[in-house]
Amino acid sequence: MKILITGAAGMLGRTLVRRWSAAHAVIAADRARLDITSADACLAVIGAAQPDAVVHCAAHTAVDRCESEPERAHLLNATGSANVAVACQRAGARLLAISTDYVFAGDRPRDQAYHEGDATGPRTVYGTSKLAGEAAVRAQCADHVIARVAWLYGPGGPSFVHTMLALGRQGGAPLRVVDDQIGNPTSTDAVADALLPYLERDFHRYLALMAHRLGFRVAEVVVAHRPRAHGRSRYGLERYGRAVADLWALRRRL
Ligand SMILES: NC(=O)c1ccc[n+]([C@@H]2O[C@H](COP(=O)([O-])OP(=O)(O)OC[C@H]3O[C@@H](n4cnc5c(N)ncnc54)[C@H](OP(=O)(O)O)[C@@H]3O)[C@@H](O)[C@H]2O)c1
Repeated sequence: MKILITGAAGMLGRTLVRRWSAAHAVIAADRARLDITSADACLAVIGAAQPDAVVHCAAHTAVDRCESEPERAHLLNATGSANVAVACQRAGARLLAISTDYVFAGDRPRDQAYHEGDATGPRTVYGTSKLAGEAAVRAQCADHVIARVAWLYGPGGPSFVHTMLALGRQGGAPLRVVDDQIGNPTSTDAVADALLPYLERDFHRYLALMAHRLGFRVAEVVVAHRPRAHGRSRYGLERYGRAVADLWALRRRL
């Protein structure tokens, strides 16, 4: 597979490049190579690369700074995502857009996790701008996947985990840490492994992987091809979305 990664010099982007490069043709598009705030640059770079898939990691990720830079947050996280989505649609590439748990209000009781279908309600500029980016991806690119990840840590950081380890190494006074946030620190390596199946265009392989994860065995899959505007044929996304949703529903009932 040919995979282009936006924001490739960031913490998640670096991990994806490192882990996927051996098996795939990975194009590491850092900010110098592709500034996502330029619609023309997105069309030119993604159009020239003709990737099978684009993993969109570039973003304004400094949550606190977004509050004081709302226009920049929206430019990167909403407009930038729209630019990438339009270019993917034009190039016929699948778009895997990385989003965040900040699209939720985060006011659930401690023991109630959020699920994919829950109502969003961001409370921050960062969350609002990322949610607008999700909407742009849905509106502009038919072949898309949105992956909401949370509390990442990976080689080089920066992350909460890195900060705690660095402070711990300094020693000295006892650490004082806020305890009003609950999350699951998630390794970027784990995210890289979890995302790869979503880039698979082979429906049977994709469904088999999903079913394996959920503890099912796929006996038979019947898939209808949907003709695409530019002549190529690809598996029908609505159908595959429904198939996966059905698996989840079945799993929950058991
Ligand atoms: N880190 C987390 O805990 C976390 C949690 C949930 C979701 N996410 C999401 O995961 C994705 C990756 O996050 P990350 O942790 O890897 O963040 P990161 O380390 O801040 O990486 C973001 C990258 O985007 C690049 N970028 C900024 N402006 C750009 C532009 N105009 N054009 C192109 N690239 C630009 C940055 O380049 P510069 O360094 O040159 O600015 C940086 O390399 C983001 O979508 C983020 O919202 C992250």
